[in-house]
Amino acid sequence: MSLTNAGGLPECRILAIETSCDETAAAVVADGRHILSNRVASQIELHRRFGGVYPEVASRQHVLAIQTVVEDALADASVAHVRELDAIAVTHGPGLAGSLLVGVNLAKGLAFASGLPLVPVNHLEGHVYSNWLYADSSSVSDSPGPGESNGSAGGSASDSARRQGSGSASEQFPALILIVSGGHTELVLMEGHCRYRLLGATLDDAAGEAFDKVARLLELGYPGGPAIQAAAESGDASRFHLPRPLTRPGRRTERQPDAQASSLPTILPVRGEHRFNFSFSGLKTAVLNLMRQLEREGTEVRQTQTAADIAAAFQMAVVDVLVGKTADAAAEFGVKQVCICGGVSANGLLRRAAERHFARIGLPLHCPPLFLCTDNAAMIGAAAYYRRSFLQSRQHASMGQRHGQDGEAVAQSTPHDRPIEPSGRDFLDLDVYASLPLVDSMQR
Ligand code: KG4
Ligand code: ZN
Repeated sequence: MSLTNAGGLPECRILAIETSCDETAAAVVADGRHILSNRVASQIELHRRFGGVYPEVASRQHVLAIQTVVEDALADASVAHVRELDAIAVTHGPGLAGSLLVGVNLAKGLAFASGLPLVPVNHLEGHVYSNWLYADSSSVSDSPGPGESNGSAGGSASDSARRQGSGSASEQFPALILIVSGGHTELVLMEGHCRYRLLGATLDDAAGEAFDKVARLLELGYPGGPAIQAAAESGDASRFHLPRPLTRPGRRTERQPDAQASSLPTILPVRGEHRFNFSFSGLKTAVLNLMRQLEREGTEVRQTQTAADIAAAFQMAVVDVLVGKTADAAAEFGVKQVCICGGVSANGLLRRAAERHFARIGLPLHCPPLFLCTDNAAMIGAAAYYRRSFLQSRQHASMGQRHGQDGEAVAQSTPHDRPIEPSGRDFLDLDVYASLPLVDSMQR
């Protein structure tokens, strides 16, 4: 294995650990871009009977799985001992506190024992950097969880599909990032590495949460996103019309999702403060009301063609809103590239609609390959590399400032604004943050 990168610099290899929700994951990532190994033990089968993630069960399963997952990730990357690496990275929020604790405590122990620096990573920043990873690695594999063989979206993607993606993001800024996961829906303007401005976020449910809740209403199975997508394939999206929250009707323009991807009336974001915000709770209620109305009329809804039609209409409504607002923000802020990330970015309709729109207007669009859309540790290793570089350059800038030179002023975005070095007591201070924001305050 090469110990230098393209620039002739020593290769920086980071062991990353991710346990923020229901995936126990570990990876070794080189120079923030190359996946040397990527292990994911999914807990989907364990939580299926609850119809959602059961936090106490999740944290206990992390305890059982984490050691094997980390050992496998090291072995896949041909790392004989942690000391051969350059840093340990771990997700410290946002997420389930009991789940985060398992990864954070193991990472603290490994860093303390090996003398390596510990890099705490924001889970959302991890999703952002899933778009910077090259997906050409041959050492990508999954650790079987209970009854589950891999951590890819829907658990059924073929190897080639798992590797498919729109290529890695470039160094072109500003970039527009749409984060769509089970817990978050955010439109973020990325002004440079690790520098973010929040443009909008969901006011209630996240997009993935809405997929999960609607799948539950329709009894389509768990997890809801892949289940809705599968049902929608045989559904007719035009049979029912569902609302597009926080949008207004608009003429079809270059900014709008493609006509073939969206057969329904085109939309524009509402004017004013909610222009780039989202709301999916009302859409879920609209599905519930539709189901009740159909049942009153004597129509069997669950697990029928009607369920497939509702799933297709719901998916189309979510995609219309996500692509419409992303397209509008991209035009407004004159961004140089657009990245979509988080579990919902595995959605086929969302990817196709976004690809059509941005290809037509000639703006580079990046979606991670499917195996990097849902939670994984490779994205944490990528984010750790860029954050560590960012914090080190900021430290140098502030030292320069103290010596009377110009230093760059940047917004702080995590509780830890410097790498944690092994000698300090910082190890003991590193805590978990169940609701750690990516960006502290909303600026427009
Ligand atoms: O990013 P992620 O793995 O975990 C969080 O950080 O929340 O996202 C999980 C979410 C779930 O809500 C799941 O239903 C959704 O991503 N998801 C999808 C698809 N695959 C996963 N939603 C729509 N379509 C999919 N194909
Ligand atoms: Zn996630």
